[in-house]
Amino acid sequence: MLQEEIINQSLEHIVEKFGDPTRAVFDIMYKRFPELENFRDSNSEWESYMMQEILENFMLFGDNPKSALLTIKDMLSHHRLIGVPSNIFGGMYQALFDVLTPSFNGPNKDAMLETWTVNIKKIHSCIAQHENDI
Ligand code: HEM
Repeated sequence: MLQEEIINQSLEHIVEKFGDPTRAVFDIMYKRFPELENFRDSNSEWESYMMQEILENFMLFGDNPKSALLTIKDMLSHHRLIGVPSNIFGGMYQALFDVLTPSFNGPNKDAMLETWTVNIKKIHSCIAQHENDI
């Protein structure tokens, strides 16, 4: 099975379990990174928007990983400029892994876990390489 299909299948499991996973992921983020409270707003629409952008970018790792990583690199410096430090930006991916991957099941469970692990590793190396870029 193509990596693209594996990623799509994993997203289906996520939607099946959570519907919209935004609340579950951000609840963990606020616990792990209390500084993130500075971004908290009575209007939580930006959190849903963020989750959509992040998952769309993650899906791109299936068929165009170069472009997906380029976006991560650009967004890392964009987010530092708007006050999201690299450790919080990168921490989002551990939160996604911890909250979302337990929903994977069925015959491709291991392949889904492997794909998520490998791509998150690539994202973390990209962040480590560029965390001090301007
Ligand atoms: C907890 C971590 C994060 C926080 C608090 C956060 C916050 C925000 C906020 C407030 C905006 C809108 C303001 C603006 O664009 O100037 C934004 C935009 C955006 N974020 Fe995040 N973000 C986070 C993580 C991420 C990650 C990991 C990605 C990876 C793809 C990402 C991708 C984007 C994109 C694509 C935009 C739109 C940028 C644009 O329109 O130019 N964000 N983020």
